[in-house]
Amino acid sequence: MSRRIPVGPVDELAPGQRKLVFIDGRSIVLFNIAGTIHAIDNACPHNGASVASGQLEGCVLRCPAHGLRFDLRTGCVSGAGGLSLTTFPVQAVDGKLVVRLEDPAASPGHAPVSDASP
Ligand code: FES
Repeated sequence: MSRRIPVGPVDELAPGQRKLVFIDGRSIVLFNIAGTIHAIDNACPHNGASVASGQLEGCVLRCPAHGLRFDLRTGCVSGAGGLSLTTFPVQAVDGKLVVRLEDPAASPGHAPVSDASP
């Protein structure tokens, strides 16, 4: 089961900007890349560093700790043994950005997201 969490107005995150939000004690970074919003967990899968301040090159985010590069569209890093950032679906709903999160009580792992979109 998933939950939809509003995280602010759509126009608050212009292209090229990023925003850090906290949901249920979890730190999530949103990026607007050329009008497309990407949301990732603010923890590098390599060693847990914050990636919120990482350098962006197109859709590729460089972890500031050790330099691994992650594609924000997939969360994946190339050539590093399958490491992947946790990504979250984001939608614009009634002028607000809404992040979809799995309910931790319902799915302790990485269970597939059930789509209950209208
Ligand atoms: S903690 Fe991100 S590359 Fe090492």
